[in-house]
Amino acid sequence: MIKAVLFDAYGTLLNVDAAAAQLASSGKFPELQSCWPELASIWRTRQLNYTWLRSLSGSYKPFWEITSDALDYAMEALSLSNAEMRDALLKLYRELAAYEDAVMALDAVATKGLPAAVLSNGNHDMLETAFRAAGLMDKLDALLSVEDVGIFKPAPQVYQLGLDRYQAKPEEILFVSSNGWDACAAGQFGFQTVWANRAQMPVERLPNAPDHIVSDLRALAQHL
Ligand code: LAC
Repeated sequence: MIKAVLFDAYGTLLNVDAAAAQLASSGKFPELQSCWPELASIWRTRQLNYTWLRSLSGSYKPFWEITSDALDYAMEALSLSNAEMRDALLKLYRELAAYEDAVMALDAVATKGLPAAVLSNGNHDMLETAFRAAGLMDKLDALLSVEDVGIFKPAPQVYQLGLDRYQAKPEEILFVSSNGWDACAAGQFGFQTVWANRAQMPVERLPNAPDHIVSDLRALAQHL
């Protein structure tokens, strides 16, 4: 029996590429037209790398600051040195658009009478700002943040936050992520897992492959 459905935030409910894509399409910075996908990709890759490296070296700092550091790295890598562009990208990142299929999935969870919550690397302030802007606060029972344990995913302490919140056994939690490694780690912790593989990526060569793989979150309803 499932007691609660936990969702990853960035990349799963919120579209992490939307900031660079939106700024490029605004036409304000013509130099972004061709390189925004690469910018978004380096930004995201560095952001995740920094979470893992900081967890391993015991040097946690809030995800918002890591996101800014990763953007600085990505911009320098692409020789984009423009303070106005940096500010605009960070402003858009604070209020990322939600995926349409993610909103449908949250509604499906509500229809089943189950609580839906976010379990994310994001710090409390950035999660609240983003989900308020996306208009999703009323669909979410809780925003659970790694900030409370001072270490990032895939540390088990992070997934434990979900058990503590719902007084559940691991197998009573359904965890949904578009990050394959996050789904594997949650599975290793004992959660039931759904990997939203929107980008048709190969399965990660990590322990505990996801229990279910869907091409987008419209298919979540059939696993509730
Ligand atoms: C999160 C990262 C993994 O929201 O995207 O936790």
